[in-house]
Amino acid sequence: MESAIDTHLQCPRTLSRRVPEDYRPPFPIWVARVGEDVTRVVMGYFGVQYRGEEHRAEAWATLRAITDGFALADGPGGWDVTHHVDAQGYDTLVAAAYWRDAGTTQRWLARPEIAAWWDAPERLSAAVGVFREVLSPGVDRFETLYPFTDRLPGIGGVLDDVSDQVEEHAYWGAMRDRIPRSQTDRMGPSGELAATSDPARGGRVVVRGHENVALIRSGQDWAGIPAEEQELYLEAIEPALRRAMDFLRDKGQRLGCYSNRYVRNVDLEGTPLDTTYAISFWRSLDLLERWAESHPSHLEVFVAFVGRARHVPSLRLYHEVSVVDADSQYYEYVNCHPATGLLRDAVTSDAV
Ligand code: HEM
Repeated sequence: MESAIDTHLQCPRTLSRRVPEDYRPPFPIWVARVGEDVTRVVMGYFGVQYRGEEHRAEAWATLRAITDGFALADGPGGWDVTHHVDAQGYDTLVAAAYWRDAGTTQRWLARPEIAAWWDAPERLSAAVGVFREVLSPGVDRFETLYPFTDRLPGIGGVLDDVSDQVEEHAYWGAMRDRIPRSQTDRMGPSGELAATSDPARGGRVVVRGHENVALIRSGQDWAGIPAEEQELYLEAIEPALRRAMDFLRDKGQRLGCYSNRYVRNVDLEGTPLDTTYAISFWRSLDLLERWAESHPSHLEVFVAFVGRARHVPSLRLYHEVSVVDADSQYYEYVNCHPATGLLRDAVTSDAV
């Protein structure tokens, strides 16, 4: 058993953990480990938005142009593709891409093929919208949580190793305690999301993030698990998850949730796979914690799962959470509707 905070990221605490030093969790959990040479990792969400079947082919061609770009030098170490329908009824394809090291991402983003594709006037005249949300948290600003040690999804898939069983889980506040920076910093938010131009006018809008925006990818994988476990998950747990996700999407704003997408992985032909996840942006870690710990919608999922956990031993649930400084977030929306992603809650500022 070891701390979720790797030894090279430990420092003298000015803030205490929520549990006593001799706390031991009741079941095993592991976290991803990153080499000492890494300072920042990157998660990038590259999206295509469309409405109407007549635009489906163009949307997929656009998504393929994005994923073809991943194959260029300095592209991501891992990626997956998802589909969901947003609150406004738009179909959305998102390719989530992960880099072990932010320097590589910067080189990739600056490649003429990538930069020119995003800047091209065709993006503005297309029948589909595109967006990219790229966050590069320092290694002291993110945590992971897996009840398994093989085939880590998301950011874990591009990192270097898996920990021994960790101490900080199975209590509210454990997520914060796994983030190295929590040893000395509450990571409170300051500032607000600011858009370069009025999202209602469409076109190309860049949103500047504020200090300590929190991002969670919370995933569910029932692919290939025994049929009785699948059935239990889909009939007794997933409906509660869907209600929680609909709640955050439609009513999360007043709780500090900027954007919530409940997405399903698909293959490159669009066939659904048996994995889903939430991509959820929050004004602060505090507000995300408060929702998880006390809101009936998450508590309903929590109870639905905990009461049945021993009957779904093969179900793979995991998450990764980052708290990101303002300068390490980049959000760009082209031709998207004004409630897309972080556009909805951004104030318009000509000074951005
Ligand atoms: C923590 C259940 C989906 C947000 C937890 C924990 C459980 C749980 C059992 C405690 C984990 C531990 O520390 O050992 C579930 C189940 C889900 C689900 C069964 C879906 C089937 C989600 C989603 C989100 C979310 C989609 C966010 C969008 C959180 C957060 C924590 C948490 C932030 C950490 C709380 C803390 O440590 O303070 N969840 N959850 N969960 N969950 Fe969920």
